[in-house]
Amino acid sequence: MPVSIRDVALRAGVSVGTVSNVLNRPYKVSETATLRVLTAINELGFVRNDAARQLRAGRSRSIGLIVLDSGNPFFADLARGAQARATEAGLVIMVASTDGDADREHAYLDLFEEQRAFGVLISPHDVDPGRLEQLRSHGVPYVLVDKGANEPAVSSVTVDDVAGGRLAVQHLLRLGHRRIAVVGGAESISQVADRLLGARQSIAQVPGASLEEIATAELSVLAGREVGRDVAARLRADRPHAVFCVNDLLAVGMLQAFSLLGDVRVPEDIALIGYDDIAFAASTVVPLSSIRQPSALIGATAVDLLLAEGPKHVLFQPELVVRASTVRGAP
Ligand code: RIB
Repeated sequence: MPVSIRDVALRAGVSVGTVSNVLNRPYKVSETATLRVLTAINELGFVRNDAARQLRAGRSRSIGLIVLDSGNPFFADLARGAQARATEAGLVIMVASTDGDADREHAYLDLFEEQRAFGVLISPHDVDPGRLEQLRSHGVPYVLVDKGANEPAVSSVTVDDVAGGRLAVQHLLRLGHRRIAVVGGAESISQVADRLLGARQSIAQVPGASLEEIATAELSVLAGREVGRDVAARLRADRPHAVFCVNDLLAVGMLQAFSLLGDVRVPEDIALIGYDDIAFAASTVVPLSSIRQPSALIGATAVDLLLAEGPKHVLFQPELVVRASTVRGAP
């Protein structure tokens, strides 16, 4: 006969409920009791029957994390933070990347619903809000990640991207730059739209300052390199004096183009600031100034919101990180 959860409880001297909590909600159990249960599990060779448990509990231990681009270090850091918090709660994160494909986004939601996921964390691309509500009504809660919720009943965690866009351009204005360009993305991505709004707000406060908006099809290094090549090909008088890229990947791409072409010095000819402050930003050929998002904390907080009772909106504040790509001599 396989060892049952009851055998474990008897050996550990605790209730069956305590053993279940150790397996499913370890954050509810004291260290002493947890140690006694884990010792009993090891001594008896207990193996949980996940399929039966999922049927009984109605939900699996997997949390679906749907991100826009798993190749972007911002989302990798976010996933790492979510995984650390999920592990503490006896749960696991399954990452899915939409890469801007709406059909794929809906397919992932269907998959996580079929699997009775414990919950879904989503950085939405083009998802129908009605589909998310349907997911919740079918017993799979969700949290919006990297995007604020428009309604009180939905939990969300994000950074104030309007403030972040404002901060980036204010930094460039304070350095004396007046011909500024903002590079990146389509306004259909809410994070980009908010950063653009913040950039426009900062420019509007300084007479004589101008903002050139350069959209890109992707928020990638390659897209940044393309813009960098175009800007470097301009007559000097037609170039911006400073550039704000809506994420670090674009800024890294522009930096690569300027370095390869050798005709544009950063920050002497063009100051450059990105957004996210991914780890790579500090080690680029000219260390990159950026607007920091607490990416791992966003991921961990999203899991907390999934475990919490009742909806909540968490809004983190962005932080300016100054490096040599805007200020000569900075680290
Ligand atoms: O996915 C595009 C961007 O949105 C990322 O670089 C990160 O800034 C997210 O907020």
